[in-house]
Amino acid sequence: MIRGGTIVDLTGTQVADVLIQDGVVATIGSKISSVPAGTVVLDASGCVVAPGLVDLHAHLRQPGREEAETVATGARAAALGGYTAVVAMPNTEPAIDCAAVVREVLDLGAGSCCDVRVAGAITVGRQGRQLAPMAEMAGLGVQIFTDDGCGVQDARLMRRAMEYASALGVTLAQHCEDASLAGGGHMHEGEWSSRLGIAGQPAEAEELMVMRDLALARLTGASMHFLHLSTAGSLAMIRGAKASGLTVTAEVTPHHFTLTDAEVASYDPVFKVNPPLRSESDVEAVKAALADGVVDAIATDHAPHAQETKEAPFDEAPPGMLGLETALGLALTELDLPIERILALLSWQPADIAGLTAEHGGPIAVGRPANLCVIDPTAKWVVDPAALASRSRNTPYTGRALVGRTRHTVLFGEPVVVNGEAQR
Ligand code: DOR
Repeated sequence: MIRGGTIVDLTGTQVADVLIQDGVVATIGSKISSVPAGTVVLDASGCVVAPGLVDLHAHLRQPGREEAETVATGARAAALGGYTAVVAMPNTEPAIDCAAVVREVLDLGAGSCCDVRVAGAITVGRQGRQLAPMAEMAGLGVQIFTDDGCGVQDARLMRRAMEYASALGVTLAQHCEDASLAGGGHMHEGEWSSRLGIAGQPAEAEELMVMRDLALARLTGASMHFLHLSTAGSLAMIRGAKASGLTVTAEVTPHHFTLTDAEVASYDPVFKVNPPLRSESDVEAVKAALADGVVDAIATDHAPHAQETKEAPFDEAPPGMLGLETALGLALTELDLPIERILALLSWQPADIAGLTAEHGGPIAVGRPANLCVIDPTAKWVVDPAALASRSRNTPYTGRALVGRTRHTVLFGEPVVVNGEAQR
């Protein structure tokens, strides 16, 4: 029983208790009094009761990089962040590029704190040379395919992938980065890269691939999802593509609406990420695109890295930052949007993109699977890396004061986070 909260989902807002039985919502009503003996009661007073959040973009590192994260620790971080479903990216070792590895990651996720789904690679080993067996992965329920970590450079291969994806009814998700233009760059190319003497990658390295893939989507009719867009130019192109009727969707990350390339002046590799932190005007464009609906989802790009790798000099350290435990707090604190919009971006719109609407993203209604989070929108907290559940510590938000935090998370009717404590 979730008692005393305000339900917010894609159908609207109502003050009501939610009684859950056998994994599904059994009753919604004001001050439900007939409650079976032994019912666990979660206090939601002052809180928003929402469909669980859905992350389209998390690096859970297993198999292969278990020193940085495991599926279990990543799922715990996700649940603490309010997520009931995450899509695990395929840049593992080996890559998730065949049915066997898909099955392995799904098995690792079973029984964890979160519903772990996987994205399959577009090409074998994410090498960009030969298409991966997408059909056999789709047969296991894989809905999203991407070589994330790098973009598919070969336009002809990308066209073929789009044709297969259309036939299979799955979505391709592109990490937009033209390797020849971005190559050797460790941060955004601009005033700060010049001042700091760090080689940059220009905004155009992202924008060229957005432009190419929009052209290929028009050619093939494939539905495309654009990962972690970070520049004003990319978002302007997505705005135009949507207006012209292309079936494209786009995500942005919390770090691209909260941090700029000026952070790199510290030379601290915790601020190294791909795509890189951009200029102030790009950050403003990301916020504007979140407000006007051009962006469909906020995705974390949660990218744990072991401490020793992030202690290398800036140009040698791997790119990536943690995201699962801070995304909701950052969105609530930094975006001047109503909570319904923020939840659309974090829950039901990504659930739709990932093909998960039967189980995630609401609505909160009788008979629906009870995948829910209870958010205290007034909870004040300060990000402390030592207190995070992730196995890694590479958050760029150490010491940042946030307002808004997950109090409870319920996964298929089971409380997996209670009063901010993981139960598994
Ligand atoms: O910063 C990033 N880190 N960007 C990516 O695309 C990959 C990710 C990782 O896997 O560490």
